[in-house]
Amino acid sequence: MGIVIAVIIGYLIGSISTALIVSQMLGHIDIRQYGSGNAGATNIARVLGKRAGAITLVFDFLKGVIAVLIGQWLGGQWGAVLAGMAAVAGHNWPIYFQFRGGKGVATTLGAALVISPLIGLLILLIAGVIILVTRYVSLGSIIASIAYPILVLIISPDPWLILFSIFTCIMIIARHNNNIKRLLSGSESKLGEKAKKV
Ligand code: G3P
Repeated sequence: MGIVIAVIIGYLIGSISTALIVSQMLGHIDIRQYGSGNAGATNIARVLGKRAGAITLVFDFLKGVIAVLIGQWLGGQWGAVLAGMAAVAGHNWPIYFQFRGGKGVATTLGAALVISPLIGLLILLIAGVIILVTRYVSLGSIIASIAYPILVLIISPDPWLILFSIFTCIMIIARHNNNIKRLLSGSESKLGEKAKKV
């Protein structure tokens, strides 16, 4: 029963879309109509500036952290992992915002850092280096998400970690399908580029 409650709470926490709240409060817009159309920190920074992007990043990250901690308290390791997965699903398909949310990168990172701090730090490092070198946030997110289950299998192949890392890898790649097309066609926005309405 604890695990079921953890999953429900995780989903409801994940559904609090920081990007949609921040874009409404600071810009009086629906961020889903601007830039990449994504309700996430990168697009908020692109449309509303670095400060708004940083606020979004921090709160989306904290959703993953809080969901996992509550899950751990209610249902141990499996509770933590399933609540983290539910938070990512809530972020991507938020119940309060017509089920149109973000791509789950910051929330996955927050959850991953609590579930397995060392591997979480490694994927953060991988994403950070790729983003700094290429200026593509999407590419950093995609490559780090692929590295995640590989690192789990090498460093700490626990069943709950394998499940979490594969789930989040699939989610992140699936949610970046348009980014992948833009990366391949050379039309993906780089970090720091301004946005236009979609
Ligand atoms: O976290 C999402 C990021 O990887 C890409 O965002 O707005 O460029 O689609 P965006």
